[in-house]
Order: sequence, then C-alpha cells, then structure tokens
Amino acid sequence: MTEQSDSLGEAVVAIVLAAGEGTRMRSPLPKVLHEVGHRALVLHVLDRLAELAPPPTETVVVLGAGRARVEAVVATHPLDPRVVEQKTRRGTGDAVRVAMEEVTCPDGIALVLCGDVPLIAPADIARLIAAAAQENVAIAVLGFRPADPTGYGRLVTDAAGALVRIVEEKNASAAERRIGLVNAGVIACRIAFLRQALPQLRPDNAKGELYLTDLVELAVAAGRRASAVEAEDPEGLTGINSQADLAVVEALFQERRRAEAMAAGVTLTAPESVHFAFDTKLAPGTVVGPFVVFGPGVVVRGAARIEAFSHLAGAEIEEGAVIGPFARIRPGSRIGPGARVGNFVEVKAAVLDAGAKANHLSYIGDAEVGAKANIGAGTITCNYDGFAKHRTVIGPGAFIGSNTALVAPVVIGAQAIVGAGSAITRDVPADALALTRAPQEMREGAAARIRARKAKARKR
Ligand code: UD1
Ligand code: CA
Repeated sequence: MTEQSDSLGEAVVAIVLAAGEGTRMRSPLPKVLHEVGHRALVLHVLDRLAELAPPPTETVVVLGAGRARVEAVVATHPLDPRVVEQKTRRGTGDAVRVAMEEVTCPDGIALVLCGDVPLIAPADIARLIAAAAQENVAIAVLGFRPADPTGYGRLVTDAAGALVRIVEEKNASAAERRIGLVNAGVIACRIAFLRQALPQLRPDNAKGELYLTDLVELAVAAGRRASAVEAEDPEGLTGINSQADLAVVEALFQERRRAEAMAAGVTLTAPESVHFAFDTKLAPGTVVGPFVVFGPGVVVRGAARIEAFSHLAGAEIEEGAVIGPFARIRPGSRIGPGARVGNFVEVKAAVLDAGAKANHLSYIGDAEVGAKANIGAGTITCNYDGFAKHRTVIGPGAFIGSNTALVAPVVIGAQAIVGAGSAITRDVPADALALTRAPQEMREGAAARIRARKAKARKR
C-alpha cells in the first residue's frame, strides 16, 4: 500500500519510541521483538513508515538499556534506521529529545510513533503529517475513541475543535476523564518548534517524567495552532502491552490478511483457520484448504492447491502444484508446475521440477527431483551423515520404488528405476535399474506346515 502524504514536499523525520521495558509482557524477549505475522513489532512499524510516499528521509529508533538485541534486528530493515540509546527512561519527551540529538534535518516534520503499534495505517500517518504541515500549525496529534479510554491521555479541544492540551489519566479531572478522544501516541511536529520547545518540558506531573504531550500547551502558549486528527483506522492503533494484547493484534492481522487474500482472488475454504505470515504471497485462483499455516517467505506464483493441515515456509510454489493434505514444505524449496507433494511428506531445500510426485510419507531434503520423476512412498533422502549435509539429484522421469533410502551424495540418472526397499549408496546411470534387496527365499508349503504344528501344540 502506498499513500500520498500530501506533506507539501516537506522532509519527514520519523522517531520510533521503543525504550520501554515491556515488563507486562513477562517475557525475556524485548517487547518490540515479539512477532505478529512472523515479523518483529518494531519491523512492522518501520514497514508502515516505508509504505509512506515519500518515505521518511531519516528514521531514528530510540532503545533502552540493553539495546543490542533489538538493534541487530532493526539494522536489517531497508529504511536503514539509526539507533539511539535512552539510558534512563525519563518519559516520552525525553526519549524524543535523545532522538533529536541525532537528527540533522534543520526543518520539516518530525513524526513520533511507538514501536509497539504494528498495524497503524499509513493513510492515517499521512493525514497526520498533512495536518502538521498546515499554516501556523506546530503540532498534530492522532486521536481515536477506544471502547475504554482508561490509561490514555485525553485530547482536550476548544469549542472550535482545536486541540488545547493533552491531559494524562493520572492528572485528569473527573470531567476530563469522560473525554472519549484519546492520544494514540502518534504525533507530528514542526522540527523547528520541537527544537525550541523540548528544553521547556518540565517533569511537574504525576509520574515525574518529561511528557511529550505537554508540547501541545507550549505550542498554544506560543500562539501556534495544535490539531487533533481522528484516525480512520482506530483498530490499527491497538498497542501491545501484554501477551493478551499481542494475541488480539495477531488476530486482527490474520483477519485482515485473509480478507486481502480473498479480495485478490484466493479461495480460502475455512478462512478463520488459515494463518498467514507478513510476506505471504498467493496467486489468484489458488485454493487453500482448512488449517493451513504459512510461515515466512512463501510465494505461490500461479494458481495452486494447498490442501488441509499443510505447513509451508520459505517456499516457492508454481502453478498447478498440489500440496498436502498434511504436507510440510520447509525453506529453500521450490515445487514446480503441476508437481505434487502429498500426505506426510517433508520437503526441505529441495526442488521438484514440473510434474514430479512425492505423494506419501517421504523426506526429501537437499535434493533436486527432475521433471515427472516419481518418488515412492516412504522414500528418504539420507542427507546428513552426522557431520555434513549432502545432495541427492534425481533425474527427470526416474522412478524411485517405495521405502528406498538414497544415501547422499548420490545421483540417480534420468529414467532410471530403483527397486523398492533399496539402500542406494552409489550413483545410478540413466536408464539403469538399481536394487539392493537381499534375494527372496521361497519355501513351498512351509506356512501350512507351521500352522499345523502350532495347532497340534495348542491341543496338547
Ligand atoms: C503515552 C502518552 C499518552 C497516550 C499513550 C498511548 C505521554 C506522556 N503519554 O502514555 O498520552 O495516550 O502513550 O499509548 O506521552 N518511551 C520511551 N522512553 C521513555 C518513556 C516511554 O521510549 O522514557 C516509549 C515506550 O517504550 C512506549 C511509548 O514511549 O513505546 C509510550 O510510553 P508509555 O510509558 O507507554 O506511555 P503511556 O503512559 O502509555
Ligand atoms: Ca503505553
């Protein structure tokens, strides 16, 4: 999604606040590294910023003590954000002050948002930036009306609807607490104003912190305008403070992805049971059965069928392929056009070319399977010798009999046949037949003799 920010061509500097300890998550993982749709919360926020048109010219992420783990993840983002450390947590105003020390841009708009609000709509960010870019406006605040406003800062407006101040829950009067419009924690501010107002913040409040929200009163006192912009997507502003919140946002994310997939021509026979990752791509005409889970990195390039209870990650699926039911496709795999991967088959870092089939109970790892090759039930590529991984190459049209162990590295030539139950340790040339079975012993009438002997013994 790309949104016009209509920011009059002004530079936008984004500041992502993520210095909180996230104690209510009760987890050893830093809060913003918890995932929604298999992507860290902080990376989602950076994705939303990257979706703006144009994207921010500078992005700064504010982290707390012990920032290393988050910093390594943030560094992977294409926006190439800078990271600053807020050594002691003195409030949102202080966090922005620390960030602004890094910002080189002399003017334009500073956009402040939180690292734990992953699904914020870029369109709402764009509207906020546009509001902040208006004549004589110093600051614009994104507001919404939650079912329960408890804990949020309330947006106090005048008769004309202009923002007058933001009052935090702990400092609010009974009348102010009845205000339904609250601060989502997303603020766009003129950089020049921000630089002159930040040093004026005072910790004279219930928490003894520097409140970013006090900038509104400072703007009004300076004869500037402050705006409240009500979000069009309030659900997207759901912040994450606990594991329960994380589950709520995950559910919202899944609901939205399912709707998007169906709108794009994908059939989901039981949408509520299908789980998407942030980057799942499904071609129109694809049919996804119940209880299918997409891990990260799945691309279905043409209309394919993913049957019930299949789990896919890091895989490319071509048109006409049929996966499952009960199949597992692991990273580095490509399932070619019309190829089939059936029940209880695990494929890892393997390519199945057009029309290849592995229909039952197999492990195919570190392998290439040629076009139209047939892998019999129970076939295993023995890719690991306890020290290193090795490759198995199966030529086009080859037939691998059931319950075969292919001990890699090994090459099976085109159109070759491997007899059922073989353990193949040497290459098989094209068109050859290979089998390693022990010769079959045949004793005529022996079964009848055994039965007679047993029956006699029982009568005694
Ligand atoms: C803040 C707002 C409140 C708003 C609410 C929305 C202020 C004073 N209050 O309240 O009006 O309704 O968010 O969720 O701004 N952070 C830092 N460093 C700090 C303090 C906070 O990086 O020193 C970060 C936190 O990690 C978090 C965000 O800023 O991502 C908000 O901080 P938090 O303490 O949760 O603010 P609230 O009290 O919820
Ligand atoms: Ca909060």
